[in-house]
Amino acid sequence: MGAMMEIKVYPDKKRLAQAAAEHFADQAAQAIVDRGRFCAALAGGSTPRAMYSLLAGTQFAGLDWARIYLFWGDERCVPLDHPDSNYRMAKEVLLDHIPIPTDHVYPMYNGAPEEESAMVYQRVLADFFPPSNAEKRTFDLVLLGMGDDGHTASLFPGSAALEETEKWVAVVPHDQPPPPLVTRLSLTLPAINSAAQVTILVSGASKAQRLRQALQAPVDGGEALPVRRVQPHSGNMLWLVDRAARGQ
Ligand code: 6PG
Repeated sequence: MGAMMEIKVYPDKKRLAQAAAEHFADQAAQAIVDRGRFCAALAGGSTPRAMYSLLAGTQFAGLDWARIYLFWGDERCVPLDHPDSNYRMAKEVLLDHIPIPTDHVYPMYNGAPEEESAMVYQRVLADFFPPSNAEKRTFDLVLLGMGDDGHTASLFPGSAALEETEKWVAVVPHDQPPPPLVTRLSLTLPAINSAAQVTILVSGASKAQRLRQALQAPVDGGEALPVRRVQPHSGNMLWLVDRAARGQ
């Protein structure tokens, strides 16, 4: 179990996005002071879109993007400009509007065969987070979402990728709902649980039952919902949710 687990509830999506953007900025500022850089894995899906858009705005113009490195927690194996691409969503609302050096942005997938793409990303991550590092840490921040089925990143219930104990990046075949039904690349639990901070954004009434289940379920391995198996070894875990997701 990590150092600390916390849940914060916000009245609505808008204030959840604002809080998430402030959290990102705070984490970035602290990491830059402590380590001279901030390495964050972005979540895909729709929930973080409003947060990313705020980060591109004047309120967060003070972010030191020259010391920030952006990765992804998962990606659909589609072209970077495809409507289903998590990279494309972040590019539209964030990357195209901030002064981040292009070589600080690491898309997970760019059209090469999936297994090759996973190996390349693994090498990129190993360069940033040498296994020899004392705390065996990976990212300063991993942002995640949660699907209605309790998946996170592209770690779906019953997926073999959930049982990966060594590799940080897995190829996840995906031919059952939720859509899109395309192969994914995903960070694995070893990569996620080695982060200094894991923050999960959950919004909307459709998530309420799963969120309750995720927050109550005992962490006893296999049958726990994928999102409940996110348990940072030494990092902190934060749930940022709105009242609808909390069933309030
Ligand atoms: C993906 C996401 C996925 C997402 C959840 C929640 O590639 O689909 O990474 O894990 O975070 O499915 O999605 P919404 O935010 O759209 O509800």
